[in-house]
Parts: sequence; structure tokens; C-alpha cells
Amino acid sequence: APATARAVLDLDVPGPVLSRHLYGHFAEHLGGCIYGGFYVGPESEIPNQDGIRLDVVEALRELGIPNLRWPGGCFADEYHWKDGVGPKQDRPRMINTHWGDVEENNHFGTHEFMALCELLGADPYITGNLGSGTVAEMSEWVEYLTRDGDSPMVRARRANGREDPWRVPFWGLGNESWGCGGNQRAEAYADLARQYATYCRDHGDNRLYKIAVGPDQDDYHWTETLMKAVGTLGCSRNPRGYFQAIALHMYTVLGSWEHKGSATAFDTDDYYATLVRAARMDELITRHSSIMDCYDPGRQVGLVVDEWGTWWDVEPGTNPGFLYQQNTLRDALVAGLHFDIFHAHAERVVMANIAQTVNVLQAMLLTDPATNALVRTPTFHVFAMNRGHHDATRLRTALVEGPDARPVGEGSLDLVSLSASRKDGTALVSVSNLDADRELELVLDVRGGAVAGHTARVLTAPTLQTHNTAEQPDAVAPTELTTVTDDPRGLRVTLPAHSFATVSLTLA
Ligand code: AHR
Repeated sequence: APATARAVLDLDVPGPVLSRHLYGHFAEHLGGCIYGGFYVGPESEIPNQDGIRLDVVEALRELGIPNLRWPGGCFADEYHWKDGVGPKQDRPRMINTHWGDVEENNHFGTHEFMALCELLGADPYITGNLGSGTVAEMSEWVEYLTRDGDSPMVRARRANGREDPWRVPFWGLGNESWGCGGNQRAEAYADLARQYATYCRDHGDNRLYKIAVGPDQDDYHWTETLMKAVGTLGCSRNPRGYFQAIALHMYTVLGSWEHKGSATAFDTDDYYATLVRAARMDELITRHSSIMDCYDPGRQVGLVVDEWGTWWDVEPGTNPGFLYQQNTLRDALVAGLHFDIFHAHAERVVMANIAQTVNVLQAMLLTDPATNALVRTPTFHVFAMNRGHHDATRLRTALVEGPDARPVGEGSLDLVSLSASRKDGTALVSVSNLDADRELELVLDVRGGAVAGHTARVLTAPTLQTHNTAEQPDAVAPTELTTVTDDPRGLRVTLPAHSFATVSLTLA
């Protein structure tokens, strides 16, 4: 028999706006993300615009990518931006010591990244080098990108072919400074963040939203130290704080870093353990937010989860430093769960970036170097199905009846997860049935408004391990969900086992 549940959806209890930036992305110079992924070079036989792969751009446009973080990750704190501008043949080469110890020829640099953002319609989120760079270097990069008129950096930019300044809304003050970004202690980093932020100027009308390195997972001392260092918000000398947000990184990893398990060869116990681990995002955000609330009750300082996602052992036979992994229905359900958590915390969580967009970790797209094929992953489809939440107003949902939480190891897992929003006369409900084996019959108890019609889509597959390949690109792809019927309380939605669905309600 199917499991049963009832969820109340209040159409007239609005919450905060779910920023589209919760659906942000991350592109690091790592494995096949930039080279072979986004960028194939102008000489490639793969259709491209100035080296940027056009099928990748076209696929990502389906997601309405709001922002793209670059150039790292750990790479950012070794990256010297001046090496990546000017004629390509003159750009110095370096070794990418973090990721595979391979040569980086700097052919994808600032101008190429900004062109990519323009093609995608995404806001750039640039992470400056605080770990091994200098204050002057970071300051000049901001000037090069965003200043108009006449100045040394403006002249350099124009000599490299770009007349007008770009708009750069998001700026990172280093990356993981507690680890690969310099192994700093919280107090030392907090001072550096203030110093670097001081010289990352707002040129003209470009306003930088500066994002400081935040905690590694549950490092609450780090968050508290950073919140003390933001400075007095609203005072005339520092009205917006020295930085406007702090970042949080949490990956869904099973086992140890040495043995994280296969992306595709796992059992049902691993599946449930994965979801419990993913749900820990809720605990982390709740606790970090509580600390932030003490220092910033008005919630001016944002929490930016700028690295999240699953991290498995690399695919057999691939470079261990390239972090290339497959992506199954399990990964899709991890993504759906994360979005429900981000939506629930939208008062504080203003932005998030999955790691990473192409060919690395929990990617949207995988490219096949042998055939040039492009594959959309199950995770891609969750981003596409949830697109209606971008900049929509959160609606209150509550699961009032449902299956018991499933005991998993020393913890437990809620088997139903959901969230909802409304925009332009439509309410969008996202719901996951995380039970590996049982169907779910969910009554959506719709209150506070009338519904004139509905459509629904579902993402599922015969097994949890199903994934997309060049040979079977649509093994996991959304289909119409035909099991939505009227119910005296609203709607009755029957969901297959292990599935993610979106129900779109046309409001009367
Ligand atoms: O996303 C891969 C790496 O994970 C990033 O470079 C780093 O910031 C994190 O540890």
C-alpha cells in the first residue's frame, strides 16, 4: 500500500522572496569544467563563440542561471588575474597544483569569463585571491573590471579590447581561508577580510556585494568571529558593513574523504545515509543563522552557501584530481532536498552555488571528450523544474500528516520534503517522495485561495542508480505527472517511490 500524507499549502501566507541567486552555479579551473567544458578554444571543431562551447550555453540557458562563481574554489587563491588578460600567446603558463598538477595556459581569463556570463545572462561572482595574492592585485582587478573614465587599469582594459566597464555585483574575499586558501585562523582571516574589502572599491555605480569566507561546515567559532568583524552596520563610516555576506560550504560526502563511495554503485542503505547527510544542511544553516541573528537581528548580512552538492569517488580511470563523477537519481533527490532547505531559510540564505556546473562533482552537464556528446544530468532537471521559484514569494507549507521518519544509523530521515512559492498568478509546489520503495499519496490541502487548474511533472527512474549517458541521455528525464486529481481539500497527488515532482497551480 502507498504511504499517505497531507500537507497544508497556505496561498495567503507569504514569506520572503526566494532569490533567484539560490540557484547559482560555480565554475572552477578544475578538471573538465572550464577547459573541455565551458571553453574549447576558437579553433575547436565543436561549435563555439570565441572558444565558448555553444551547446553548453544553450543547455544552461534552460536553467536561467542567475550567477556564476569563478575562478575557484581553491584555484582562486593561486590565481593571478593579470596572467589571464592580453594576447593569448603571451599569457604565462602555470601549474594548477590543487587540481591534477596540470598546466594551466590562462587562455580562459577575465574577458572570456565575462563573455561567458553575457552569453548565459548570468551575473558574475568573482572570487579574488586573498591566499597568495596582494591587496593591490585584488584592488586593481576590481578597477580593471568596473571603472569608467581614465585610470591605469581602465587603460589596460581598453588596450585589451574592452571599452566599457562591466557590471560585477558579487565579489568573494578569498576561498576556504581556513583550508586551501591559506590555513588561517578565524581572527586572522577576519582582519584580512576587512583589509581587502577596504580596497575593493565601488567604482561609478557598480556596487560590490562582498562575500567573506565563512565557516567550514559546523565551525561556529568562525561564524561568530566573522560577525564581530563585519563592523557596526548602519553607521555612517560603514553603513553596509565591511562585507555584506559570509559563505558556508557543506558537501554531501559519505564515509571518509579517501573512500567516499561510488556515484553509481551504491545500495539502499547508502541512499538513505546520503539523504540524512544532505539534510544536515538544515541543521548547519539553523545554527549559523542563530549566531548571525545575535549580531545582526535585522538580517542585513547574508548567508551564501557558495559550495554544496554531492562528492563521490571519481569515475574509474579518470584523473583523481579532476573530480569527474556520474550523477544518478540519488543526486537529483539530494538537490531537491537542498532547495527545500534553502527556501525554508530564505530570510537569511540569499544565495547558493552548486559545485560545479560542468564535468565536476554534482554537475548539470557532462561532456564526453571522445564523442563531444553533451549529457544533461538528473540534477540538471531539478534545477529546470524548480525554475518557477526564481524570485517568487515563498508560501507557507506544513506537512501535517505523513509517514514516520525512517531511522537511519543514529539519526532519522523525513521521507517527504516540500516547499512552495507564488509568482504571476501561479503557485509552484516542489515535493519529494524520498522513500526508496513506496509510492506516496499526498493530499495537498490548499487554503487561502482558489485553484483554477494544474499541471505537474515528475522526475524518477526504475532504480536509484539510473543515470544519463551519451547512449541513454534521457534515462532520467522529467515526464508529465498524470496522477493528480481533485480532492475535497484541494488536490491528491500520487508520487512514485524515489521521485521529485513539481505541481504548478493556476490561481483563480
Ligand atoms: O569544489 C571543489 C573544491 O572544494 C573547491 O575548490 C574548494 O573550495 C572546496 O574544498
